[in-house]
Amino acid sequence: MTVAVIGGTGLEGLDGETVPAADSAATPYGSASAIPYRSAALPGAVFLNRHADDHSLLPHEINYRANLWLLNELGVDAVVAAFAVGGISRGLANGDFVLPGQIIDYTWGREHTFANAGSLLHGDFTAPFDPGLCDTLAQAAAEVGVDASAGGVYGCTQGPRLETAAEIDRMERDGCTVVGMTAMPEAALARELGLPYAGLCMVVNPAAGRGPGAIEFADMRAVVAAAGPRLLRLVARFLVLVDHPE
Ligand code: HPA
Repeated sequence: MTVAVIGGTGLEGLDGETVPAADSAATPYGSASAIPYRSAALPGAVFLNRHADDHSLLPHEINYRANLWLLNELGVDAVVAAFAVGGISRGLANGDFVLPGQIIDYTWGREHTFANAGSLLHGDFTAPFDPGLCDTLAQAAAEVGVDASAGGVYGCTQGPRLETAAEIDRMERDGCTVVGMTAMPEAALARELGLPYAGLCMVVNPAAGRGPGAIEFADMRAVVAAAGPRLLRLVARFLVLVDHPE
């Protein structure tokens, strides 16, 4: 089974010797964020950094359609997407991992579908994340000694600015437990292509109004640096488990 790992802040690359998985990043929908690659250390995975390899793409600038299209063209069987998120639920701390079960989409103006004027595509999206992949991620987390809570709701905001405290209060009333900027339209596009999709969130800050003061980028980077290696361990174990269920 080949799994596309879509990396974001906190999972910016795979260890080991890498080889490009495609000749170019070009697709009928424009250019993907980067040329996906494989790593000898993690066979079975194709890696794509959604923010580009130099982290130059902001969440609203990412060509989600090109990314998913290219990964699908490479014949991947499933997608595991890593996200840095803010924690909304009071129980969440920096460095915690969450395997969300649901999404609420607050984004706007993004190219969000492969459907065109001539096609009627009202695909089911009741459960945006694949339960089987989520279970395997949870098992991988347990096996590498990483706490990962399964369930919860990923609220996807437009960015690139962070939210106001009132926006986070509203999102909490809506039922959101974490907030990020990149799960949509990524998850929906994966569904349109028939690709099972799971999300792996790393909490890098308390959401607006949930911490002691303003959200500082440097503090987020420090959490990413501390927790990022655990994220990579978890993904590495997951890749073994999906191929050799135990
Ligand atoms: N809000 C939105 N996206 C994020 C956050 C946040 O607080 N932290 C990391 N990504």
